[in-house]
Amino acid sequence: MGDSNEKNLVEIKHLKEYFNVNVGFFKTRPLKAVDDVSFSIKKGETLGLVGESGCGKTTVGRTILNLYKPTAGEIWYDGKLIKTNEDIKEFRKKATMVFQDPYSSLNPRMTVSDIIGEPLDIHNMYKTKEERRERILELMSYVGLNSEHASRYAHEFSGGQRQRIGIARSLAVNPEFIVCDEPVSALDVSIQAQVINMFDELQDKLGLTYLFIAHDLLVVRHISDRIAVMYLGKMVELADAEEIYKNPLHPYSKSLLSAVPVPDPKIARANKRIVLSGDIPSPLNAPSGCPFRTRCPYADEQCSCSMPEFKEVSKGHFVACHHMENVN
Ligand SMILES: Nc1ncnc2c1ncn2[C@@H]1O[C@H](COP(=O)(O)OP(=O)(O)O)[C@@H](O)[C@H]1O
Ligand code: SF4
Ligand SMILES: [Mg+2]
Repeated sequence: MGDSNEKNLVEIKHLKEYFNVNVGFFKTRPLKAVDDVSFSIKKGETLGLVGESGCGKTTVGRTILNLYKPTAGEIWYDGKLIKTNEDIKEFRKKATMVFQDPYSSLNPRMTVSDIIGEPLDIHNMYKTKEERRERILELMSYVGLNSEHASRYAHEFSGGQRQRIGIARSLAVNPEFIVCDEPVSALDVSIQAQVINMFDELQDKLGLTYLFIAHDLLVVRHISDRIAVMYLGKMVELADAEEIYKNPLHPYSKSLLSAVPVPDPKIARANKRIVLSGDIPSPLNAPSGCPFRTRCPYADEQCSCSMPEFKEVSKGHFVACHHMENVN
């Protein structure tokens, strides 16, 4: 876990990302993949971002990096609003993304050395061939690969090792901020912890700041300083990692934790088991009012009429629910 000082490195204000999707002949409708999301990440901090598949996590990550143009909202980096193409270009030198699928994100016909060296070539980051080689070996050592791996091809490696190669490649440009988009979801459970530990060590060594995305709260628990929970394009809860684990206040966060066995019975009772019924609605037909109301055991009239405000209920703990008191 990184040491956090009080300075915000990344600040997202009222971010929206709507996709126009076809819903019939010549008819389109906006799909609200991300709908008014705000948060900040301090320098050296890890913010975990969790929620079921389709709730908008990847879109948040891609929009922050301006891989998608935001429909609305502001992205601030190191105290500066990212607005012009020039700002975006500068920002991209400092911010990068690690992808979910280590199988499709690496070219299997390139050697490890070429995969990691490519960004160095693109950005002219060395003077001599020797310097390039040294840098590639250094990046490989960061992720636990040794020099014998350099001339081998990506397809010769296991999923966990491919993910290490992808991370070494992302580190080539000396990023400060990395969006880690479910970097362990495609890996065997047995090696997930190793790869997460590696992210943790790299953070300490290189002073990195992470937005760490996962669909499972447990995966991000140990690496995150704080955790944000998303549902249908909206943020429903945000708190310190331990706080959200021990004292989840939103019915949706509680349901995410109900799905996993909790060894401590006191914590299990405090979490009040909520088992979700039904599927997550399509963001094209999002419910009125609270997005969670079609699956929430506490939903009432008010929940279908108005969207609950995202309120700070104790220091640093934010929740969007009309019936916080009844639920807890
Ligand atoms: N490029 C796109 N065009 C249209 N819809 C998209 C696009 N990318 C994502 N979506 C939709 O936006 C919603 C959020 O997707 P995504 O951000 O990938 O969620 P997550 O990463 O949480 O699984 C989903 O309903 C998805 O189908
Ligand atoms: S606002 Fe209503 S529907 Fe939404 S989580 Fe709270 S109780 Fe459930
Ligand atoms: Mg995703």
